[in-house]
Amino acid sequence: MIPVTPCIRVVTGIFFVLFSRFAKQIIVYFGFYKQIQKRMELKIDLYTQGERPEVTKPHPDFLKTLGEEGVRKMVSRHYDLLRVSEIKNLFPDEEEEFGKAKQRSADFMIQICGGPDYFNQNRGRPMLINRHSPFSITSEGRIIWLECYRVALTETNLPEHLILSFWNYIQVFSAWMINSTPKTEK
Ligand code: HEM
Repeated sequence: MIPVTPCIRVVTGIFFVLFSRFAKQIIVYFGFYKQIQKRMELKIDLYTQGERPEVTKPHPDFLKTLGEEGVRKMVSRHYDLLRVSEIKNLFPDEEEEFGKAKQRSADFMIQICGGPDYFNQNRGRPMLINRHSPFSITSEGRIIWLECYRVALTETNLPEHLILSFWNYIQVFSAWMINSTPKTEK
């Protein structure tokens, strides 16, 4: 006859192993789900040339929490992603010029987030629509530009409400930069 106590121990052991694996699966699933949710909330509204939806600046806590260096790191990552994207032809090829482009963009982002007016000091008034006019920016190009930001922004690991606040700003303001029609549209 099999003794009862060891038998209960074995059954409990098996149950415990199975349950902990199951529990781990649940934790992994919810972690993953949360990540997907974060990405899903960073939605992209479709706009066409000429539309100028109302823009809200990012929350001041965005810069306070991320810091100037954090913003520069995020912008640098955005540009590195653009450089290997389908719109890489829009951006400078040469290393030094590419570095300067990163700096101009980071200066602007720090300024618009409530930091020092580095952009105005180095470049003058932003007038971004004019500054983008030499480049052909289509609604498709805008989406690629935003998709690169979606990655760079999510990697900051900031709280979700701050990520959303910056995202909502670029998601809407980027529509203002569209100045060309994609080849596929008539
Ligand atoms: C719609 C998607 C966009 C595309 C495809 C795009 C593309 C470009 C390109 C090709 C340049 C010139 C190269 C460079 O200096 O990096 C540029 C410059 C710049 N962009 Fe954008 N851009 C977009 C949206 C935006 C938005 C929404 C902002 C601001 C929130 C922005 C801010 C800037 C700034 C500050 C510069 C530097 C201007 C200068 O000092 O000459 N861009 N962008």
